[in-house]
Amino acid sequence: MSPNPNKPVLIIGGSGVVGSRAARALRRLQPELPLTLGARDMDKAQALARELGGADTARIDLGRPDLGLPPGADFSAVVVLLKDDSLHSMRYAQAKGLPYVSFSDFVFDIGPEVALYIQKPTSAPILLLGHFLGGTITLSALHFAREFRKLQTIEVSAVFDEEDVGGPVAQGDMERLSQGVPHPLLLKDGKFLWARGADAERRFTGVDGTEWQGRAYPLLDVVSLAAATEARSIRLDFAVRAAASRRGKGPSHEVIIELTGERLDGTTGRVRHELIDGDVHSGMSARGVALAVERLLGLAGGPPVAPGLYHPESLLEPAYVVERMREFGTRIQRA
Ligand SMILES: NC(=O)c1ccc[n+]([C@@H]2O[C@H](COP(=O)([O-])OP(=O)(O)OC[C@H]3O[C@@H](n4cnc5c(N)ncnc54)[C@H](OP(=O)(O)O)[C@@H]3O)[C@@H](O)[C@H]2O)c1
Repeated sequence: MSPNPNKPVLIIGGSGVVGSRAARALRRLQPELPLTLGARDMDKAQALARELGGADTARIDLGRPDLGLPPGADFSAVVVLLKDDSLHSMRYAQAKGLPYVSFSDFVFDIGPEVALYIQKPTSAPILLLGHFLGGTITLSALHFAREFRKLQTIEVSAVFDEEDVGGPVAQGDMERLSQGVPHPLLLKDGKFLWARGADAERRFTGVDGTEWQGRAYPLLDVVSLAAATEARSIRLDFAVRAAASRRGKGPSHEVIIELTGERLDGTTGRVRHELIDGDVHSGMSARGVALAVERLLGLAGGPPVAPGLYHPESLLEPAYVVERMREFGTRIQRA
């Protein structure tokens, strides 16, 4: 049965730093789509619901299998913008046959969700979207890869502003990451590697020519890009820019995608694309969520998505995503 887009999309965490941006992006893309903002602080959520229009709120209790929702609650999708350690939200979506988006899992986190999907593979479409910037960077890389017959390497670099740490939930996730979790996963010379020491670091050049020492991050982009291309080496490295160096310039998030390989004309070479956005990193991430929800419900890019386990590149058309990102205000340039 297809999800009914006349029913609201339940966005758990819909009032947070990413969630409020995702809700606004969805409202812009789909003015008629009803939304329910799931949270604990109802005053904050209700203020946003009033601003959005066509939205209401629900108090969520992730400790309960019914999420604390009334028995008659009816949604078109369940989007979870925080780490739900209980997975009650995923079980809830599966029980009701609703598309489910998980957004806060590192590459080493996805085992429990994969197992739950394997248990009930035909119940609902499950999208694992713990990718960098809500999948928009993996999709951009795949778009830029189209000028290559065969890719050799994919290197993604990003510069975060020091203050761009997201809300309390995102900060909790970073703390979890810093406390004894596995090393970042890379693809190096055709082999997956949980990198340590020098392997986990890489120097790169920022958009304004600044040299950065980047550190690899354990996001899902490496496995998605490894599955979708023949590249032999794939990695993602982040650097943090001190607040003082941006004084007076406002926030900026920059991502650099560098690809090497054999071009369609048979020559080999390297290309560099830069994406610059004036919002915090959560802005681009939120647009990735909005584009994914639209696609899952069949409101863009094809019919409603059938039950299955998905990554963003298995749902969304790369060229379409790059075009929408430009419309949302991301500057995308070939350098
Ligand atoms: N994949 C990506 O591209 C990407 C990018 C950025 C961030 N993230 C992840 O996205 C998540 C959200 O980050 P953020 O910066 O938006 O955090 P945030 O500002 O702290 O937002 C958290 C949201 O979740 C709600 N919430 C928190 N605990 C809850 C609970 N137990 N039950 C119900 N609702 C709860 C909060 O509402 P109340 O205050 O009312 O509880 C708020 O709406 C983090 O897990 C972060 O790691 C992923």
